[in-house]
Amino acid sequence: MAASPPPHVLVLPYPAQGHINPALAFANRLASMSLSVTVLITTDLINKATVSSSSSVPIALISDGKEAVEGTESFEAYLKRFKAVLSANLAEFIDQNRSSASPAKLLVYDSVMPWAMDVARARGLLCAPFFTMSAAVSAIFYHLKNGGLKYPYEECEEVCLPSLPCLGVKDLPSLSTFMDSNQTILKLLCDQFLNLEKADWIFFNTFDMLEREIVEWMARKWPIKTIGPTILLNKKDNNHTTINLFEPKHDSCTQWLDSKETASVVYVSFGSIASLGDSQMEELAYGLAASSRHFLWVVRASEADKLPRGFNLGERGLVVAWCDQPGVLSHRAVACFVSHCGWNSTLEAVGHGVPVVAVPQWVDQTTGAKFVEDVWEVGVVMRGCEREEIAACIEGVVGGERGAELRRKARELRKLAKEAVECGGTSASNVECFVEELLCR
Ligand code: UDX
Repeated sequence: MAASPPPHVLVLPYPAQGHINPALAFANRLASMSLSVTVLITTDLINKATVSSSSSVPIALISDGKEAVEGTESFEAYLKRFKAVLSANLAEFIDQNRSSASPAKLLVYDSVMPWAMDVARARGLLCAPFFTMSAAVSAIFYHLKNGGLKYPYEECEEVCLPSLPCLGVKDLPSLSTFMDSNQTILKLLCDQFLNLEKADWIFFNTFDMLEREIVEWMARKWPIKTIGPTILLNKKDNNHTTINLFEPKHDSCTQWLDSKETASVVYVSFGSIASLGDSQMEELAYGLAASSRHFLWVVRASEADKLPRGFNLGERGLVVAWCDQPGVLSHRAVACFVSHCGWNSTLEAVGHGVPVVAVPQWVDQTTGAKFVEDVWEVGVVMRGCEREEIAACIEGVVGGERGAELRRKARELRKLAKEAVECGGTSASNVECFVEELLCR
């Protein structure tokens, strides 16, 4: 009798770098466990991307209607069109796939697209949302949805929510940058909890020892599985599917880092979306110049014209448009990470034991920065944006007694992160347990 084919899993990330990276890492891991996995990527994105597609995780294209849009679109109009077109095309994709030799059994979709569950369920698929933000931030959006917390936040001293440390208003997710669209963003993030009770599994890119109380609190409500840090889920040398939405990686980084002493370089990056103000960028530039440390600074092409005119990098600095961030963070020369504290960057710093100077910009980053400084004690938060402060924060993390303690804690956390994904660790066991359950369904 012929053996039955392995279950086929469709993975649908939200089309942004910070959502694609953890979803792809998870997809690669599932494929390494002999599942059949297809990643669905929106058509217009792929035109801009550098894709390396392994045969074990093929990419299928699916349109969200972006290619037909002329002129600019408001955020509200974008979300409406995105949902309408993508859900129709997802339905068509699943219908066509049904008659293939390996029809899909499960849809893993980004939690900001809860409507994907309705599409998949109606076609008999199992469904599992994938949360790309921390459990802490996700819990806060749950409370915002259920009235445990109100937005706009009231000016109270502290907000104490179940399983979370008491938070000041400045530590709560910040939506003010989005001005007129803040209610739309709020709804998008609160709606992640719309239909969770119907999910078969719920994946979080975190690990139990990092957010233990929150994970335990959530696990009492939903079938959640912590599977992170996804950046450590796969062996580096294997052939993985990766997608880079920005300029090809800058090979000179490794060479430049190789020429530097151990723990001597400050790595600076604000992820794939955040856009700094002109004066913030200028202060950062002069702060780095004042810090007397070597620095490697990622300035995306869209940000480059904000660099102060005539800013001289000298011998100490290298500015690149994009790099292999996990590769940089794992390099022995890197001493600290000046980061916006996007959740992937935070997990990548944690996973590589690099202490952080947190310069949060918006949404989950303010809460992530609070955890970096006060809960895990692996970094400091920069409160102002003057050049003297950036230089002082860097020195506080790279040098002195406090710095030594932060670095020690960062190493401890790295050990816990590695243990979570190694054989028998919580995240590794959760992935295995999920695969076994899927095989039985
Ligand atoms: C955003 C949110 O900030 C984040 O919290 C949410 O979970 C996903 O969407 P982003 O702002 O881009 O993401 O930050 P981050 O989550 O840190 O993701 C950026 C990713 O780009 C990281 O995986 C990082 O390794 C990668 N990166 C960044 C590079 O590969 N090269 C670079 O030069 C810079």
